[in-house]
Amino acid sequence: MAKKPFYITTPIYYPSDKLHIGHSYTTVAADTMARYKRMRGYDVMFLTGTDEHGQKIEKVANKQGITPKKYVDNIVDWIKDLWKTMDISYDKFIRTTDKEHEETVQKIFKELYDKGDIYKGSYEGWYCTPCESFFTERQLEDGKCPDCGRPVDKVKEEAYFFKLSKYQDKLIEYIESHEEFIQPKTRQNEMLNNFLRPGLEDLCVSRTSFEWGIPVEFDKGHVVYVWLDALSNYISALGYSSDNDEKYKKYWPVDVHLVGKEIVRFHTIIWPAMLMALGEPLPKQVFGHGWLVINGGKMSKSKGNVVDPKILVDRYGSDSIRYFLMREIAFGQDGNFTNETLIQRINSDLANDLGNLVSRTVAMIKKYFGDEFLTKFEATEYDKEVEEMAINTVEKVEDVMEQLFFSDALVEIWNLVRRTNKYIDETRPWVLAKEEDKKPELANVLYHLAENLRIISILIEPFMPNTPKLIREQLGITDEGIMTWESTKKWGTLSKDIKVNQGNIIFPRIDITKELNELEEAQKAGKEEPKEVKEEDYISIDDFAKVELKVGEVIECNKVEGADKLLVSKIKIGTEVRQIVSGIAKSYSPGEMIGKKVIVVTNLKPVKLRGVLSEGMILAASLKKNLVVATVDGDINSGAVVR
Ligand code: MSP
Repeated sequence: MAKKPFYITTPIYYPSDKLHIGHSYTTVAADTMARYKRMRGYDVMFLTGTDEHGQKIEKVANKQGITPKKYVDNIVDWIKDLWKTMDISYDKFIRTTDKEHEETVQKIFKELYDKGDIYKGSYEGWYCTPCESFFTERQLEDGKCPDCGRPVDKVKEEAYFFKLSKYQDKLIEYIESHEEFIQPKTRQNEMLNNFLRPGLEDLCVSRTSFEWGIPVEFDKGHVVYVWLDALSNYISALGYSSDNDEKYKKYWPVDVHLVGKEIVRFHTIIWPAMLMALGEPLPKQVFGHGWLVINGGKMSKSKGNVVDPKILVDRYGSDSIRYFLMREIAFGQDGNFTNETLIQRINSDLANDLGNLVSRTVAMIKKYFGDEFLTKFEATEYDKEVEEMAINTVEKVEDVMEQLFFSDALVEIWNLVRRTNKYIDETRPWVLAKEEDKKPELANVLYHLAENLRIISILIEPFMPNTPKLIREQLGITDEGIMTWESTKKWGTLSKDIKVNQGNIIFPRIDITKELNELEEAQKAGKEEPKEVKEEDYISIDDFAKVELKVGEVIECNKVEGADKLLVSKIKIGTEVRQIVSGIAKSYSPGEMIGKKVIVVTNLKPVKLRGVLSEGMILAASLKKNLVVATVDGDINSGAVVR
């Protein structure tokens, strides 16, 4: 039988800058759902990509003196690498600069124009470039963008308009008769009350004041408004209106568009109106999730509080970060991000609860049975409850996953993890192990632990794609038939011939105080970006030539009395010997300096530091607290000139 299709999308991201952990949140959620549906036997199409046109991108590229395409190419590579490190299993990555996409957008624009739903006029109003949104005077808040609070620009230009107002009543009717269309429900009320019922105005859908966009084919001075361009990605990626539209026929209408709450408006008003105008079916659901916030406020580069997901994945692994994102924030609501809550979650849920369950189970099986697991079992009074709980958990997880309540699914799974840990305390295997005739009971207890872990490893797989393999390796599970979602429906399918492989701890406990400091340092270092160099910041070659640099060999070195950061060195520079004081005592002992060939500034005016004469300066590189002296690569006599 053909598999049922399931189509899920993330928004396509602006590659105006590197993405932060908030962006990863949407993508991890979509990936979790895509993996879950694949495990449930669906033919999944998971789409993500980048939204590359528009004034914002043109501006940043201009500022850097490169073409917008070159600018986005770099960031798109970075984004793809991010998704790889986070195990994002997308089926297609669309770029709005893809030729096929550009052609589809041009066709859509033309079709809407031919149908009379796009007409030419002139636009006068306000534009927020960071949000790529038009606003009327009335919509502004204190003269600023009502969405992001940043200044807006006055725009007056010839433009094409889409007859959005024509679809107002149809949209209201559709939303009211399709409860599942906008989720969660609060967002539905927001759309109806704040936007649709007060009345829609026609939407400006072309721009003439900049160039970085898809040209309107029949009027080349215009480029297509970036949101019309971007929204079309959901169908252009499927080959809509091309010769190869099988995917469109198979996957459209989309099952769910996952989007952040601030762009629900574009997806539930503009997008369905466009589809109505094209005569195409509407998305089955648009789910507007909340934001990952920092101290209650949105993460943003201008606030300097963005969290780089690559740094986190590097330190804790993709599974831990994915788990945190999906567990900490109830899908639909905002959730606060702090380094501390992240580490606490990893320690309590992953290292303590799951990690301990795995290592205790494996260690006890190894210790009490080695490679000869007993197949004669004797039941305990606690068995039934843990068996039933495992099966009920599967049902509960399925139920909440259908509603995209990721966090609830993890709560259910962790209730099972904790209940299984409690079963160890109830049955006390270490006591059973002391008596030979209790061995069948002991084997039964350990089997229960291993079987629950097998089921848990399957339930967590959509969220944490790497951990299940590690658990199964340690439990010695190799039969793929008992790794499927279907196999969780029946308790007791694990073979009684258990042979474990004790391995590394799957989630080592993190020393929170030490780690918080190191993580903060790493995050600060990651934020340091190359400064923009202005004309007046450059020095000429003559300026540089004024600095005399020579190779010197340290022949003597001592601490400076009463100054814990200073060392005083005698340095041989050709035939002469100089005394130089340097602030390197925290990084080098005097003994370590002797014999080093360093680079010395020899024409600095001599000074006294803490009363000690210093006739020059030793060059050193430093990053935060880390300091190393600059030496020469290769053998060269002291006194050699450095240029
Ligand atoms: N390019 C548009 C989307 C076009 S879709 C046809 C866009 N891009 S974006 O890069 O600014 O944002 C992409 C997604 O990331 C949005 O859904 C947005 O809500 C989400 N997030 C950005 N910051 C976020 C958090 N701090 N937390 C959660 N999601 C966040 O909008």
